[in-house]
Amino acid sequence: MVKKRAFKTLAPYQNDRLGVNFASKDWLRLDWNESTEAQPASVTKALISSIRKGGLNFYPDAEAAQLRKALGKYVRQKPEMIIAYNGADSALKNIFDAFLNPGNTVLIFGPTYTQIHPFIAVNNAKRMYFIPENIFKPTELEIHTFLRKHKGSYGLVYINNPNNPTGTLLEPKFIKKLCHEFADTLFIIDEAYYEFSGGKTCVPLLTKYANIIVVRSFSKAFRLAGIRLGYTVAHTSINREILKVYNGKEVNLLAQVAGIAAIRDQKAVRSHVKKIQEAKKTFVKKLRKFGFEIHAGYGNFVVIRDNAYMAMKNALLKNGILIRDRSSLPKMAKCLRITISCDKRFLRTVPSVLKKARDSFAMRGR
Ligand SMILES: Cc1ncc(COP(=O)(O)O)c(C=O)c1O
Repeated sequence: MVKKRAFKTLAPYQNDRLGVNFASKDWLRLDWNESTEAQPASVTKALISSIRKGGLNFYPDAEAAQLRKALGKYVRQKPEMIIAYNGADSALKNIFDAFLNPGNTVLIFGPTYTQIHPFIAVNNAKRMYFIPENIFKPTELEIHTFLRKHKGSYGLVYINNPNNPTGTLLEPKFIKKLCHEFADTLFIIDEAYYEFSGGKTCVPLLTKYANIIVVRSFSKAFRLAGIRLGYTVAHTSINREILKVYNGKEVNLLAQVAGIAAIRDQKAVRSHVKKIQEAKKTFVKKLRKFGFEIHAGYGNFVVIRDNAYMAMKNALLKNGILIRDRSSLPKMAKCLRITISCDKRFLRTVPSVLKKARDSFAMRGR
C-alpha cells in the first residue's frame, strides 16, 4: 500500500487530555492557554440570531468578506491583506504548504509552539533550532549572530511573539531589522497572544516589508477557541501564493458570524485582558512570596520550574485542575506551564496546592 515517506519521522497526535472525563466534574482547564471565562454575550447573541435566520444549508462565504472587512479595521490594513482561517493552526499549515519545498529548512526559535512540527514535516522539510543561552531572556545579539552565521541554510523563520511557552517577546523594531537584512527570508510571526502583549505587533512592518506574515488567533483574548478562527496579515504577493492552496470553505458560517461580533466588541476584549493581567500579577506575587521560580512573560500563561514539578502537577490534577508539563522541551527541564484564569479557584486553590505539593516533596527528601 502507498505510504507517505515524510510520516516516518512523525508520531500520531498525542492528546494529553486523554482519559480526562470533562463531564465528570467542573475541571479548571489551565493546560491549553484557553480562556476559562465563557465567550462574550455579544458573540452568543450574534450566533443565536444567525442560527435562527438559517443559512447553514449553504456553504459559507468563501471570501469571508464581512469578517475580513472588520479585521481590516482592527489591524488598520486593507482587507486584501487578510486571509481568514479555521484557527491560527490552519493558517500555519497553509503557509508551510504554500512555501516549503522538499529539503527546505525552517529556522525555529525554540522552545516554542510544537504544533508546527508536523506541518513542516509533511512537506519533507527540515527544522533548524536556535536555542537562546537563557530561554527566558533571549538577546538580540545572539539571535542576530545565529541568523548571520547560518544565512543561506534556511528559507523561512518562525517566530512566536510573545512566545509560547516561555512568554518572551522580541521588539518589533528588532524584527524589522531582521526583515531588512535577511530580505530573501520569509518571516512568520505568530502573534496568537498579541492582545496580551501591551500592543507590540509586527503588523505595521507590512507597509515596508513583503517578507513577513503575521498570524493571529481568536482562541486567546477573544475567548473563542471552540469556534476555530484565526487570520493572517501579509502583503498581497504573499497572499497570492497562499490562496493557491487555500480552501474557500475554510471558515464556517458560524465562525465568520462569531468573529465579526467579537471584533466589534472591543470592550469585552479589553476587560478580559485586564482581568487576566490582574490575576497574573497577583498569582506571580503569591508564588514569588512562596519562593517559587516563576517566569511571567507576556502571554496569558506563566512557567514554573521546580524539582517537585511532577508532584505539583498530580496534586493539581487531584483537585480537578489541569496544567501543562513542558519539561520535555529544550532547556525546560522541570517546567510547568499554567494558564492564567479569572475563575475564583485559580487564585484561591492553585498557589496553596503548589506550595503544599512542593513542601511535602521536600519533606520526603526526594
Ligand atoms: C503560539 C500559538 N499559535 C497558534 C495556536 C493555535 O491557535 P488556534 O486555536 O487559533 O488554532 C496556539 C494555541 O495554543 C499557540 O499557542
